[in-house]
Amino acid sequence: MIDKIRSLNSEIFEDVIRLRRTIHRNPELALAEHETAALVTETLRPLGLDVRTGIAQTGVVATLQGAHPGPTLLLRADMDALPIHEQNDFDFVSQNPGKMHACGHDAHTASLLGTAIILHRLKDELRGNVRFLFQPSEEKIPGGAKLMIEEGVLEANDTSEAPAVVFGQHVQPDLPAGKIGVRSEMYMASADEIYITVKGEGGHAAAPHRLAADAILVASHIIVALQSVISRHCPPDVPSVLSIGKLIAEGATNVIPETARLEGTFRAMDETWRFRAHDLMRRVVAHTAQAHGAEAQLEVAVGYPALYNHPEPTDFVREAAHAYVGEENTVELDMWFASEDFAWYLRERPGTFYRIGTGNEAKGIVHGLHTPRFTIDEDALRVAPGFMAYLALSRLSVDG
Ligand code: NI
Repeated sequence: MIDKIRSLNSEIFEDVIRLRRTIHRNPELALAEHETAALVTETLRPLGLDVRTGIAQTGVVATLQGAHPGPTLLLRADMDALPIHEQNDFDFVSQNPGKMHACGHDAHTASLLGTAIILHRLKDELRGNVRFLFQPSEEKIPGGAKLMIEEGVLEANDTSEAPAVVFGQHVQPDLPAGKIGVRSEMYMASADEIYITVKGEGGHAAAPHRLAADAILVASHIIVALQSVISRHCPPDVPSVLSIGKLIAEGATNVIPETARLEGTFRAMDETWRFRAHDLMRRVVAHTAQAHGAEAQLEVAVGYPALYNHPEPTDFVREAAHAYVGEENTVELDMWFASEDFAWYLRERPGTFYRIGTGNEAKGIVHGLHTPRFTIDEDALRVAPGFMAYLALSRLSVDG
């Protein structure tokens, strides 16, 4: 079976590269993935898949029915690009100024199309159905995943049962092409944006004693006090990070401003701690300000939940990777404090989110995600589509 999938992957390799480059050349931001969705639709319809468009605005859901009855499995790719101006100079560089596929979603989409083509050719051996999700807006809160779930992509429909398990993959530039990374249980963080406005009293910097409160000094106390929320209240076994990345207070050398504004990110690997921390931070912000005669408020823009990989499907992917790329090419991942909206699916269904190596130092492909020179070693696409097809085929025989 593996040899057959590998040779199908080789057969379609050039097509997958062409798809990836077409998408890379025309990056579209969250919820504007119109041409990308059209390309997905155009590629899948001739295969006879049940293709539905306009799910969560620009999303596409396609179902392949296997020759044998069985459960449904869900495979997902994200389609959106980032507001970054690309600085690469290959011939399929972004044609849309200020937009770029700098997180590999072009590769995810092309790879999943490749998987669909491979599975379509092997559908006589498929015991169940595969639901392919081409999801918009991974990069923008609340996440296309949440929107698609609200439109029922995890439910039964007239072509297939509700998905029993969900799989997604993401490129990883510091993992060499050809390798696959897995991690069981807590893997990626929740990410919430925090905004604090401190209101004091502005005036002459030479006479602070005449003012009710110096917003800059109060903001400084708040920054320090917030770190003690993490160090004194977070359970020691829960990784959690708070970073203030922005402090705006527009006074002058001789002017104390009336207000100060703080912005930052709060990340955690545990949902209970996450929401408790919001309350504690609100209290610390309000009372620290009050202690100094100022007023302050914390607003939290709630982002994606922490991403939890279910142990059993993760073990399954690890075993599949051993079989497909070999034990020496299967890597145990560290926790990663970025966030990912695939977490929404994993709150509803068992599954796992794994990584596909796309780096290559010898070729100079070393730039990080979300940077203007990011790219992938396309040799990764000799592995990714076939591996996902293998995962689906072998998993459906287990669940069925
Ligand atoms: Ni991404």
